[in-house]
Amino acid sequence: MSGHNERKSPVAIEWRDSLSVNSKVIDEQHKSILNTLNNLVHSLNTGSNHDIIAEIINELIDQITRHFITEEEFMKAYGYPSLEEHTARHKEFIDKMIEYNTLFKDNAIGAVNGVVLFLEHWFEAHVLMEDMDYASYLTSD
Ligand SMILES: [Fe+2]
Ligand SMILES: [Fe+2]
Repeated sequence: MSGHNERKSPVAIEWRDSLSVNSKVIDEQHKSILNTLNNLVHSLNTGSNHDIIAEIINELIDQITRHFITEEEFMKAYGYPSLEEHTARHKEFIDKMIEYNTLFKDNAIGAVNGVVLFLEHWFEAHVLMEDMDYASYLTSD
């Protein structure tokens, strides 16, 4: 046997029912974010230029920022008890994304693979853990 294959490039994340948080509005936003993330993965893997990638990253930051606002409004409206903690997680994430975006602007595209892997991992983990935690407080809209 030769050496194992290491996953060096990010791959697209497919939406699946287990990501649903019992809200059509939130689910649609999560799907849109995944879609943009997957565009970013595709652009990276097909060698798009720095400007195109920068544009997608900016779009992703905007989209996620808007999503967090919606989510925080929902959690407030439904009386979710861990609202403050969850909001703090969102803020940490936005700060990190902005930090990475600054790094990206100064670096080669290759350096961004790790950032995208981080984004994908974070997003999936956040939806499955933190977002899922408020799901039982929401009544389906
Ligand atoms: Fe979310
Ligand atoms: Fe969240």
